[in-house]
Amino acid sequence: MISFESVTKTYPGPRRAAHEVVAVQDTSFTVDTGTITVLAGSSGCGKTTLLRMVNRMVTPTSGTIRIDGDDIAELDPVKLRRSIGYVMQHAGLLPHKTVAENIAVVPRLNGATKATARDAVGRMLELVELPSDMGGRYPAELSGGQAQRVGVARALADEPNILLMDEPFGAVDPLVRAGLQQQLLDIQPELGTTLLFVTHDMNEALRLGHEIILLAEHGRIVQQDSPGQLVAEPANAFVEDFLGLNGMDQNLRTRITEDGRTLVVDSLGRPAGFLEQT
Ligand SMILES: Nc1ncnc2c1ncn2[C@@H]1O[C@H](COP(=O)(O)OP(=O)(O)O)[C@@H](O)[C@H]1O
Ligand SMILES: [Mg+2]
Repeated sequence: MISFESVTKTYPGPRRAAHEVVAVQDTSFTVDTGTITVLAGSSGCGKTTLLRMVNRMVTPTSGTIRIDGDDIAELDPVKLRRSIGYVMQHAGLLPHKTVAENIAVVPRLNGATKATARDAVGRMLELVELPSDMGGRYPAELSGGQAQRVGVARALADEPNILLMDEPFGAVDPLVRAGLQQQLLDIQPELGTTLLFVTHDMNEALRLGHEIILLAEHGRIVQQDSPGQLVAEPANAFVEDFLGLNGMDQNLRTRITEDGRTLVVDSLGRPAGFLEQT
């Protein structure tokens, strides 16, 4: 479990400006082990800041972040970072290394032999459904979708317990994005990884999240719920707006009950998820 306890982050303001920038203010939430939690919200609301605090690329100004109860401030930052996978928007591959070398980076840093790292590369290419001969290519020779697959393969190569993804599919076209999302949904339960996924795209959040944390300014949590619950019972107009439900007839949100489970369908006919049993 990852827990954020009253976490605040302020950055120094722009040069010579008097005011600090409050990126995140007093935010608390928990992420269950082995689930997909999506941090959703508009640009600038603090998503990246929250994500990068988990692997200590950003240090909170105040508050505590724990992984399985341990305060991460007391863990070795290098070890911590290597035990957590990270995928960013533009895959962030090293341009002068081949695909295979890129995927092998973290296992090698963690002390894997060349042979062990080579095995990991093979397994990872298979996992993300890239042909094994792609290992010899350079990042510039890949399509956007292929590069993101390599980014995911690299992040997972040393079998991290936690995977952080920051708008990883934002720059690829919708069809490729849907394929990448589906692949992630296939891989995550197989590996049991705790996935914290950032997006400003509500459709993506609804599709991927077991749990969605919808954020407003300064990382303020507006609602944390399952996708079904969020669509069925948006906490307020902000949530409705974000879901694109605003102004729509409430009845357009259809509920279909089957085998005692209730599926919620949003106003555009997209299944948003199951309602929690109460
Ligand atoms: N390194 C930084 N220095 C100064 N301000 C920053 C820095 N990183 C982020 N910010 C500011 O903090 C706020 C939150 O940013 P960010 O976490 O990147 O949001 P998001 O990922 O949701 O777009 C924004 O106002 C942004 O301009
Ligand atoms: Mg961001």
